[in-house]
Amino acid sequence: MPNQIKKTNDGSDSLVSKQFGELYHSHHGSFQEAKHIFINNGIAKTQQNEINIFEMGFGTGLNAILTYYYAKQKGIKVNYYTIEAYPVLLQTAKELNYNNFIKEETYSEVFAKMHSVAWNSQQEISESFKLYKIKNEIEKIKFESIIKTKIDIVYYDAFAPTAQSNLWETPVLQKMYNLLKQNGFLITYCAKGSFKRTLKTIGFKVNGLPGPIGKREITQAVKGL
Ligand SMILES: C[S@@+](CC[C@H](N)C(=O)[O-])C[C@H]1O[C@@H](n2cnc3c(N)ncnc32)[C@H](O)[C@@H]1O
Repeated sequence: MPNQIKKTNDGSDSLVSKQFGELYHSHHGSFQEAKHIFINNGIAKTQQNEINIFEMGFGTGLNAILTYYYAKQKGIKVNYYTIEAYPVLLQTAKELNYNNFIKEETYSEVFAKMHSVAWNSQQEISESFKLYKIKNEIEKIKFESIIKTKIDIVYYDAFAPTAQSNLWETPVLQKMYNLLKQNGFLITYCAKGSFKRTLKTIGFKVNGLPGPIGKREITQAVKGL
């Protein structure tokens, strides 16, 4: 049974997970949320001309496609790694209305390619954007044998702690810390106190940043020296 498409307040689509009963994005707007958190406070914070990104939860692919066009415009090479346990059907992805927000001629082709390339190996979406989609549960995976490089930015986009509390606790978050380079950072919409305390215990330096519409604060967690 496919996940159901639901329109959010900025007019962009999201999905309702059949399995978890959760919306994939903020009901205040998927597009504005993704852009604020993962582009403006994610890739846009780097000065590098080549960057390694890891995303928890590929889902609709919205963060990946926004990153693709941001990087293309800025001339940044991207090695994008992502994990997804319950892939969205290609047909469902094609029905999402992100083409109303991403006015790029190549959108349909690139978005379909991101969803249809093989899992569990690195695939070329373009000369400057490589995509490695891991099909697994983040709790189970050993990243050392898969991701052979260190990550600059983790886009942490799991369902909320109320739905999947274990994804916001030490065992999984320690994996994110281990993946990151020194001075690399994790960015996420979640600003829950217990989550931020866990990040600090692991060794992250935690910063609260202004959130997108409908959310006061988001969290940046930097891997310090
Ligand atoms: C908040 S949604 C992701 C939103 C996604 N970044 C997007 O822009 O559409 C969370 C995602 O995590 C995936 N997920 C849930 N549990 C998981 C697990 N244990 N391991 C990996 N992925 C998981 C879900 O299927 C869903 O796609």
